[in-house]
Amino acid sequence: MTAFPSFGDVLARLRAVRIVPVITIDDPEDAIPLARALMDGGLACAEITFRTPRAPEALRRITAEVPEMFVGAGTVLTAEQAKRARDAGAQFIVAPGFGPRVVEHCLEHDIPVFPGIATPTEVEAALERGLTTLKFFPAEQTGGLDYLKAIAAPYVDVSFMPTGGINAENVAKYLAFKRVVACGGSWMAPADWIAERQFARIRDAALRATEIARGGIAVAAGVAV
Ligand code: 3PG
Repeated sequence: MTAFPSFGDVLARLRAVRIVPVITIDDPEDAIPLARALMDGGLACAEITFRTPRAPEALRRITAEVPEMFVGAGTVLTAEQAKRARDAGAQFIVAPGFGPRVVEHCLEHDIPVFPGIATPTEVEAALERGLTTLKFFPAEQTGGLDYLKAIAAPYVDVSFMPTGGINAENVAKYLAFKRVVACGGSWMAPADWIAERQFARIRDAALRATEIARGGIAVAAGVAV
């Protein structure tokens, strides 16, 4: 197995990709066509959520067969899942909340980890462990960009990866906030599109997301995504 990227390298890649597709996949047979659709759409990145029993297998296939893809594991709720994710090739770990055992396991094993936070108390729990890039979840439902700006204000060295309710219409405004490293979201590859093998549709939505990430268009005007 090739060496895993460092925390700094992972952060640099997140800053470069700007949009992280959050993937829920049932059938590992769909993993490679999905990865290719995202790549063809310019999104060479994915967070494979551990919400489905065969997510580790999907992750393993992508890391083995599409090594140019920057891929991590999401919805990692236990240290055991974090271990399985790493064994499957995850380059980074994301969690919806601040789980101390997941965080400690990742830090002990040099796995870049982005726990979720939604309150100042959680930001400070992360800071105590030396973590300064955090998932902000659920972004829109918690209060959106205004809330994120308020929570970011006291913690000047902390940056964020907002996820939850983000889509082609609102992602540009999050990306314009300097404290945002990247945004996560499932809008370009929702679980039902994957299950229905709508890979051309996913590629097209990824293309529009890529244009937004590059700042080419603020909103995919008039296009249903
Ligand atoms: C996540 O796990 O980060 C979210 O479920 C993704 O949120 P979204 O489906 O609203 O994009």
